Amino acid sequence: MARGIGKGLIGTGAAVAAVGAHDLLQRKHSVLRNYPVIGHMRYLLEGLRPELQQYFIERNWDGRPYNRDVRSVIYERAKGIHGELSFGTERDVHRAGYEHLVHSTTPLDPPDEPPRVRVGGPDCSRPYDMSLLNVSAMSFGALSANAILALNEGARRGGFAHDTGEGGLSDHHLERGGDLVWEIGSGYFGARTTDGEFDPDQFREQSAHEQVKCVSLKLSQGAKPGIGGVLPAAKVSPEIARVRGVPEGQKCVSPARHTAFSTPVELIEFIARMRELSGGKPTGFKLCVGSRRDVLAICKAIREVGTAPDFIIVDGSEGGTAAAPLEYEDHVGMPLTNGLMLVHNALVGTGIRDRIKVGASGKVATGNDIVRRLIQGADYTNAARAMMMAVGCIQAQRCHTGTCPVGVTTQDPRRARALDVGDKSARVHRYHEATVDQAVQMMATMGARQPEDLTPDMLRHNVSHEEVRSYAELYEWLAPGQLLAEPPRDWAADWQAASADRFLPSPGGVR
Ligand SMILES: Cc1cc2nc3c(=O)[nH]c(=O)nc-3n(C[C@H](O)[C@H](O)[C@H](O)COP(=O)(O)O)c2cc1C
Repeated sequence: MARGIGKGLIGTGAAVAAVGAHDLLQRKHSVLRNYPVIGHMRYLLEGLRPELQQYFIERNWDGRPYNRDVRSVIYERAKGIHGELSFGTERDVHRAGYEHLVHSTTPLDPPDEPPRVRVGGPDCSRPYDMSLLNVSAMSFGALSANAILALNEGARRGGFAHDTGEGGLSDHHLERGGDLVWEIGSGYFGARTTDGEFDPDQFREQSAHEQVKCVSLKLSQGAKPGIGGVLPAAKVSPEIARVRGVPEGQKCVSPARHTAFSTPVELIEFIARMRELSGGKPTGFKLCVGSRRDVLAICKAIREVGTAPDFIIVDGSEGGTAAAPLEYEDHVGMPLTNGLMLVHNALVGTGIRDRIKVGASGKVATGNDIVRRLIQGADYTNAARAMMMAVGCIQAQRCHTGTCPVGVTTQDPRRARALDVGDKSARVHRYHEATVDQAVQMMATMGARQPEDLTPDMLRHNVSHEEVRSYAELYEWLAPGQLLAEPPRDWAADWQAASADRFLPSPGGVR
């Protein structure tokens, strides 16, 4: 009897060991590579859908930034599965706030190749043709080396751009050969003197890399506008410290404000300097909009200095981060819809829209997100968290602790090795391709051959349960140069108050 039990235990132990060995060696599931055997619980629960999903999974998912449907679509597209759903929408299509796109009765066939967007104004000598969807800024430090490698390899295969984030340009960004947008923030990591100032020589040297197609200055980010990036001490490994030029094992904080400029005119002059140092590459900045007055101040500065950024990326307050205080994530900064339309209209109204391309980021994950943002004034979009999901993020929301269970946002080499670069880069490539294809298909459905054919009346918004209005009706769309000729009444006070010589604090009445 005892021998029988003993044999049974040995048999069970051998089976568990075999499953564990298989889990460690397979490359598809990062969870199983980090949590052999017990990680199967996750797949078991998913497999029991829909019966138990309601209780065990969906309840959690729906409280998270990306709901079940969006996550499923990202995962399935990344895996090369159809990415379609059966049975019809589960949304209440009458609720206030619901939006839909207007299709044509005579839809077009989509083009063979998705359109690309030329970034580079008259002062740029090396323009770049940007994809409609790109990898948004996420630093090496916030992300693991394997995550950076997978994103960049995916970008290389799919011919789209990968923004480095503000944590410096590392070997991992350069190894695979994908196109890069090199971002610097107020810490100037990778182009920084020992006392934390901007270092032009390092900037010239680093931006000369052939892979760096554009250079970008981060003014602010939607999840935490007004405070600098934070890398918790646990994530400041010796390698991160070297890439950033900061002490190892100490919390790495970017200052709240830049030291290289402090007025709108100085900002535009600094952008021109970055472009010159980079040898004429497209140069722009990223911001989460605070006030309309500050945006108009920048427009005035552009006109006064006589040169313009080649692109402006508008980030929405709904955007993501690896680490930020709850107060900032939830309560500071303008949502993307408002910020994007504001920047677009300010550029149109001051007659400089044709020189500047506008990028948009903030929960862009699916084809309709891209089309919606193009209608609201963007020329192209960037996605951060959707791309993280394509490399295996399961929204554990532990990015700030360094204990990411799937190796995406960790500097712990043991955890990071769970992320298989070959498998995940293919997922990034497939997710991007399927999503852009879907956006282009939707445009064709709407009778638009290219993004320029999309107009604000093609996007409809439920103002209430009963009333649906188009974006053309709901919002004021300025004519080219209108602010210079005769600002509309609603814009006049901000237009008058905006000064190219100072960013104002925000007294009453600021939009
Ligand atoms: C892990 C992580 C790290 C980020 N790091 C940066 C950064 O270094 N620089 C930056 O401009 N934005 C950073 N962001 C913000 C994203 O680039 C993006 O603007 C924002 O998350 C909105 O996009 P999403 O909604 O697609 O995530 C980060 C976001 C995440 C999730």
